[in-house]
Parts: sequence; C-alpha cells; structure tokens
Amino acid sequence: MRILITGGLGTIGSCLTARLVKQGHKVTVYDNMEIGHSDNLKIYLSDPEISEIHIIKRDILDKEHMSVAVSGSDIVYHLAATLGTLNVVSQPSRMLNVNSLGTHLVSDLCVSNNIPLVLMSTSMVYGKNPKTSVSEKDDLFVKGDIDVGLWWYAISKMADEAYANSLLLENKRAKILIIRPFNVIAPLQSPAAGFVFPRFFRSAYLNEPLLVYGNGKQKRTFTWAPDFVDSLLKLVDKDVFRITVNIGGTESITISDLAKCIIKTTNSSSVIKYIDPQDLFSGQFDEIDQRSPDVSLLRSLSGVVPETSINEMIVNFSSYYKKYFNIQDRGLSRY
Ligand SMILES: NC(=O)c1ccc[n+]([C@@H]2O[C@H](COP(=O)([O-])OP(=O)(O)OC[C@H]3O[C@@H](n4cnc5c(N)ncnc54)[C@H](O)[C@@H]3O)[C@@H](O)[C@H]2O)c1
Repeated sequence: MRILITGGLGTIGSCLTARLVKQGHKVTVYDNMEIGHSDNLKIYLSDPEISEIHIIKRDILDKEHMSVAVSGSDIVYHLAATLGTLNVVSQPSRMLNVNSLGTHLVSDLCVSNNIPLVLMSTSMVYGKNPKTSVSEKDDLFVKGDIDVGLWWYAISKMADEAYANSLLLENKRAKILIIRPFNVIAPLQSPAAGFVFPRFFRSAYLNEPLLVYGNGKQKRTFTWAPDFVDSLLKLVDKDVFRITVNIGGTESITISDLAKCIIKTTNSSSVIKYIDPQDLFSGQFDEIDQRSPDVSLLRSLSGVVPETSINEMIVNFSSYYKKYFNIQDRGLSRY
C-alpha cells in the first residue's frame, strides 16, 4: 500500500512509520521537522530501510504540497500537530492553526479523494471529567476558565473531532477513524516539549532535581508506543472506521511515584522538587487529579490493548536513553 504519515518523524510517528516500512508498504512521511527528526527512525530501522522512505519536509498548512502528497495515497495517518505543554502555551495561535486548520485541510483532502484517514485526537478532550476511567461516550468538558492556554490544545482537537464527524455525517462512504491516545511514551521522545517521562530521565541522568508539578499525587496512565501502534494497526486491519476509540495503557501511577522509580532505575542522586507549575507557564497551566482510559471498546474492536507495565516502560526508556541521547544537548534545562 502507499501510505502517507503526517508527523511521521515524531514520537508516535517514527514508531508507526517503522512498523509500516517493515510490513513492506511504500511509506511517505510528511513532517516539517519542527520536533521530529529522521534520527528517530534509526532505533527501529536500518539505513537501507530508512532510505526507502520518501520524506517530505513541509508544513501541513502548505495546501499545495499537502494536496499532492495526499492524492497519491491509499490511506493517510494524520499525526502532525503542535503538542506538549511548553509548545502549546508558548505559541497558542500557531498551535490552533496547525491542529485545527491543518487537520481540517487533511480531512477535506482525504474525504474528497475517497482516501481512508486515521486522525489523532487526544485524551485531553475529556478535560476535567472526574471519572476514574473515561470511555468514548463520556462527557467532554473543560471546567472553569477558558482563558487557561493549556485547554486550547484540547479544544483544537475537539474541533477536529467535530469536523471529522461532520464530514462523516455528510459523506456516508467516507472512512475516518478518530483515536484518543493516552500519554504515549517512545524511546526517543524529546524532553523539549515538557513531557514528563523524558523530562524526568534527563534530570535524573544529570543528577538534577526532578521537578514535580503540584503535590505529585496526580495519577496518569502511560502507553508504550509500540503497543499503541499494535492496537492502531489492528483496528485498521479490521477496517474499523467511522468511530472514535481510546488507545491507552491499563496501569496508572502517581507522578511522585514515577519520579521515585526513575531516580531508582537510573541510580541517580537527584532529589524531587515540588513546584508550582503556574510559575513556569505564566498562569496558563491546569491539570486534573487522574485520567485513565476505559479500553473496553478498543478490546472489543481490535482484541489488542496496550499491556506493557510502567516498570517495563521505565527500564526500556532508560536503556534507549543511555544509548541514543546526547543528554547534555537534547531538551531545555529549564524543564
Ligand atoms: N504522545 C502522546 O502522548 C499523545 C497524546 C495524545 C495525543 N497525541 C497526538 O498524537 C499525534 C502524534 O503525537 P506525538 O507524540 O508523536 O507528537 P510529536 O510532537 O512527537 O510529533 C509530531 C510530529 O509532527 C511534526 N509537525 C508538527 N507540526 C507540523 C506541521 N505544522 N507540519 C508538518 N509537521 C509537523 C513534528 O515535527 C513531529 O515530528 C499528535 O496529533 C498528538 O496530538 C499524542
């Protein structure tokens, strides 16, 4: 198959790209390399395998190139987006343009060319829903002040879901699969955007304090990228479209405990420092006590749910981190 992956050099994208190349597909990656890097592919693929990938270094808002790239494809996986607390709060209008206008463009191009589309939404669309585990039919809401920048990311993805669903309503034959990922972790995830796993690892290896936001009691579920890709590709193989599905791990941990486990695994002399994130993000930060996915729908549709434990993820991440990262150079010291 001829497969187009936008954002195919990022955290999830590089894992997905590699898997599809290994399966023998003709893969085109469309990525502006703002965050992603072709080096990310090196942990999964050999140089000859990487040379088979057609990489287009362009922005998804570049309608002309996007349109040519989409038109020659049998399926499009649309992953390109602006995400990560730091990126979201530092360039909110750019984020809204890329995540909404860019996604609407890709969606229109796919539907008008009758090309199946897989769209990445986010678990953040559940907002402050207080349920212990959230399922696809649960309420999506942002409670409180809409002026808090972090929620604008969730709103951009809600707009994508609404737009995709409007296209599905108007086009009975259109094929769009909407995925809501929960904290996907991959070996070369950069600490630069502020994601907690790489941020903690970088600090631990530098024996610097691990900065925990708030009291550290907030609980999160993490998902190992290769597991995420297994579930996603199973859905596509089974031709599951015109539906929204959570993909996430089944184990959760408090952020404080995560910090302790990472310090222990890396034999670091780092300490944990509890800080007020509002000081770092100019009042644009918000978060919830816990968020975990109900994966019953994923289980029933694909039969494959992410199973890697948090401990295994920490051990895996640690071995890749030591081998591949130039710890001093990657990421921002402030985070
Ligand atoms: N990783 C997670 O935990 C998570 C959670 C929920 C949702 N998602 C969604 O999954 C998708 C992939 O996430 P990821 O973690 O791999 O992100 P990432 O930041 O690692 O990768 C995104 C990729 O898109 C590229 N990109 C960004 N803006 C672009 C633009 N305007 N034009 C072209 N390329 C652009 C980047 O260079 C990068 O390679 C995103 O849509 C994200 O919103 C991810």
